[in-house]
Amino acid sequence: MTQADTTQTGGTSKQADQTAAAALAANPAVDDAIERIVGEIESARASITGVRGPVTGGRESLKDFLERQKQNKGRGGFFPYIGSGIGNGPLVELLDGSVKWDLINGIGVHMFGHSDPDLIRTGLRAAMGDTVQQGNLQCNADAVMFGETLVEQASRGSALRHCFLTNSGAMANESALKICQQKSNAAPRVIAFRDCFMGRSTAMSQIGDNAGGRIGLPLNVQVDYMPFFDADDPEGSIEAACERLDEYISRYPGQHACFVMELVQGEGGFKTAPREFFEPLMGMCRENGIAVWADEVQSFGRTTEMFCFQTLGLGEFIDVVTIGKMSQVCATLFTEAMNPKPGLLSGTFLGDTVGLQVGRRIVDRLRDGGYYGPDGRIAQLHDAFVSRARKLAKSHPEWFPAVPGSGGEPFGGIGGMMRMTPFGGDRTKINTVVQTLYRHGVISFFCGHGPYHVRFLPPIGVMEPEQFDDVFLLVEAALEQVAEKSDD
Ligand SMILES: Cc1ncc(COP(=O)(O)O)c(C=O)c1O
Repeated sequence: MTQADTTQTGGTSKQADQTAAAALAANPAVDDAIERIVGEIESARASITGVRGPVTGGRESLKDFLERQKQNKGRGGFFPYIGSGIGNGPLVELLDGSVKWDLINGIGVHMFGHSDPDLIRTGLRAAMGDTVQQGNLQCNADAVMFGETLVEQASRGSALRHCFLTNSGAMANESALKICQQKSNAAPRVIAFRDCFMGRSTAMSQIGDNAGGRIGLPLNVQVDYMPFFDADDPEGSIEAACERLDEYISRYPGQHACFVMELVQGEGGFKTAPREFFEPLMGMCRENGIAVWADEVQSFGRTTEMFCFQTLGLGEFIDVVTIGKMSQVCATLFTEAMNPKPGLLSGTFLGDTVGLQVGRRIVDRLRDGGYYGPDGRIAQLHDAFVSRARKLAKSHPEWFPAVPGSGGEPFGGIGGMMRMTPFGGDRTKINTVVQTLYRHGVISFFCGHGPYHVRFLPPIGVMEPEQFDDVFLLVEAALEQVAEKSDD
C-alpha cells in the first residue's frame, strides 16, 4: 500500500491529491526503494528458523551491553535480554546471536512478532513523514485517521464515539480518570477490583492493587476494592461482589467518580469472569450515576473480539475504555456524554508518526485477517495452547497440583492471554520456571499475586498453532529441570 493509499482511504475527510506529499507518496521510485529494503530484511530474517545458542563472540558482546545497561539504568533487567534488532515472527534474535521463542513480546506489544515485512513496509513509509512526533497542537492526517479507526471498531455495540491519543497506557488511564472525575463534579473516590494493575503514574500506582508499586508514595487517591470473580464459586462470588458494591455505594453516596475494571485481569493473574459477573455490577453503576471504565490496555485485540467488552457483550454499559500496547499509540475512548470540557486533555505529543501508521495497520489487519469470532485465529491459537498444556499436565500430574481459584485447571486465560500454573503457583518456583524457560529458549513472564502463574502473550498475529509443539518440548524440559532441582 502506498502512502497515497494510507493517507487517503479509511477516513471521512479527503486529502487533496496534488500536494507535494501525495506526489512523493505516489512516486514509483519510493515504492521500489522500500521493496528493496523489505526484500533484504526478508532474506536476513530467513536465517532465523529455530532456537539456537550464541554465535562466536556473542556472549561477550551481550555481557558488555548488559553491564552498560545496568550502569545506565542503575539496575539490571529481569532477563539478560538485549535484542539484536531482527527476528522472524515469534522467533527473536538477541544481541549474542542466540534465538528464542518470544512468547511475551514486551508484555504484548509486538502482536505481529519480529521483523514483520508488512509492518516494516508501513513503518518505512511513515518514516518519510516530515516529523517524528505528532502533537495535539499540530498533527498530520495519520493521527486523525488512527483515532477514527479506533472509534469505528470501539463503537460496534457501544456508545463510544471519541478518542484521545497518548503515549502510554498509564497516560491513557490518567485521561480516563480525569474524564470520570470531571463528569462526576470531582467525586473523590474510585472503585477498582482487588489485584488490578493500571500503570505507574502516581495516581495509577495508588489505584493498582500492588503494595510494592507504591512504596514510599504519599496516598491521596481514595480507592474502594472489590472482590473479583471466583471460578471455584461462581454464584457465590457474583453475590458477594454485588453486596460489596451496594455497601460502598450506600456508605459513600455520590462520592464515586467511576468503577474501573479490567475485564480480564492482566498482572493480577489472567483471571477471567463471565458476562454474568460484570452485568449486575455495571447495572448498579448505571443506576447510581457511576461511570464504567474498562481498562483494556492489556486485553485490547487479544480476546475473541477486538475489545473484551465486545467479547462479553457489555458494550451498552461502557462509558470509557482505555487501550494500549499492541496499538503502538495508546488511547482513551469515550461516549458523547463523557466528552470533557476543553483544557482537560492535551499534551505535547500524541504519538509518533511510525506508531500511528503501524498501529492503524495492525488494527486493519486484525479486523480483516480472520482473527476474531469463536473459530477465528485467536480462538484457534488459544485451543492449541490449552491442548498442549492439558497433555503436559496429564503426563506429569505431579508438576500440576490443584490451584485454588482456577476452576480446577492448571492453565487458562482467554484468547491470546495464556497462563500455566505448575507447582501450585508457588512464587519462588514460578520465578525459577520463567528463568529456566528463558535459558531453554522460551521467553515468558509471570503474573498473579498468589497463586503465581507463568504468563504467555504470544504474537497472535503471526504464530501458528502447531508452533506450540516445539514450544512445549522446551516447556517440558524446563519444568523437568525445575522439578528435579526441587527434589534435591
Ligand atoms: C491493564 C493495564 N493498564 C495499564 C497499563 C499501563 O500501561 P503502560 O505500561 O503502557 O503505561 C498496563 C501495563 O501493563 C496494564 O496491563
